[in-house]
Amino acid sequence: MNMKYIKELYHNYDTEYLAQIAEKICFLNYGNKVFLRGLIEFSNECKMNCLYCGLRRDNKKLNRYLITPDKVIEIITKFYNFGFRSFVLQSGEFITYKIKDLCYIVENIKKKFNDIAITLSCGYFNKKELKILKENGVDRYLLRFETADSKLYSFLKNGLSLKKRIEMLYNLKELNYETGSGFMIGLPYETDEIILKNIKFCYDLKLDMIGIGPFIPNPDTPLGNLLITEFDKIVKITAILRIILPFSNIPATTASGTIEKLGREKLLKAGANVLMPNITPKEYKKNYLLYPNKICINEDFSHCINCLSKRLKKINRKISLDKGTSLNYILKKEGEYYVSC
Ligand code: SAM
Ligand code: SF4
Ligand code: FES
Repeated sequence: MNMKYIKELYHNYDTEYLAQIAEKICFLNYGNKVFLRGLIEFSNECKMNCLYCGLRRDNKKLNRYLITPDKVIEIITKFYNFGFRSFVLQSGEFITYKIKDLCYIVENIKKKFNDIAITLSCGYFNKKELKILKENGVDRYLLRFETADSKLYSFLKNGLSLKKRIEMLYNLKELNYETGSGFMIGLPYETDEIILKNIKFCYDLKLDMIGIGPFIPNPDTPLGNLLITEFDKIVKITAILRIILPFSNIPATTASGTIEKLGREKLLKAGANVLMPNITPKEYKKNYLLYPNKICINEDFSHCINCLSKRLKKINRKISLDKGTSLNYILKKEGEYYVSC
């Protein structure tokens, strides 16, 4: 896939047209199913200080919490009994939690239920740590590269190098994780060129899952007074990603539902095929505030699941609680199947 082709899609076609094609491609590969992942935000402690994020360590306004490993197992068990087979455990970068706590959760839950998929999204781990986690039963990992521009990445992450983040993504692939990554849209200093680089990078990595979403300024961070990007851009980028990566799982993210009332529906109609309802207990989720006005933090899960099934029905889609393994991950084992343009 060369950059010329991505550029052409981005500049020469309107969003509606791209979305129609992307929706058809998604339908061909995934039918009308939308995979649900139960998202557990098990701790908002974070040792990092990313300029854009409400969990950054210098944000003293946040009440910090962690959910104990046994309580996480209890939550997974409850939602397993409801029918969920795919769970995402997310947090800031560890302060109190340790790798052994994650291993304890995954080992014990996999002993109870061997038909589930566990995804982690906890920031940076080195290869040795990732190997231990994989051996203990973790199946998938989500680590956004945030931006493919190394200068901008360094600025947003206080001098950290993009190279190290990318190295981890390659380690995940080498260790046979189902690998997810992605980027934010509307970051400061972002240009169309950077957006095109982001898209190309998702393609080059042949990601199994691609999570993109708007950057939403948080007043309790140094980037609090910036503007939110226009929603149409997010729809267009989602559609292009579906067209160039037809077999990947693409979530319609919560951030998109936050800045646009029907945001998740619009992304599903532009090629997305995953939703990640928040199953964190209500008393904690109000403190996992990456950005303001986050949706679903005052609602119980029972409210959200009814809301989601009604919303999906309106766009002729239906909930699937299956593990929802990425076709990209399954097909990869069968050899190269990408057409180069
Ligand atoms: N700590 C881990 C990490 O950084 O990879 C995982 C949790 S972090 C909260 C998950 C994602 O939230 C980040 O990858 C980032 O893209 C997104 N995020 C953080 N602050 C945001 C904001 N203000 N607006 C939109 N997304 C944001
Ligand atoms: Fe921490 Fe992740 Fe937020 Fe950065 S984006 S401050 S690593 S939770
Ligand atoms: Fe939570 Fe609609 S999905 S209120």
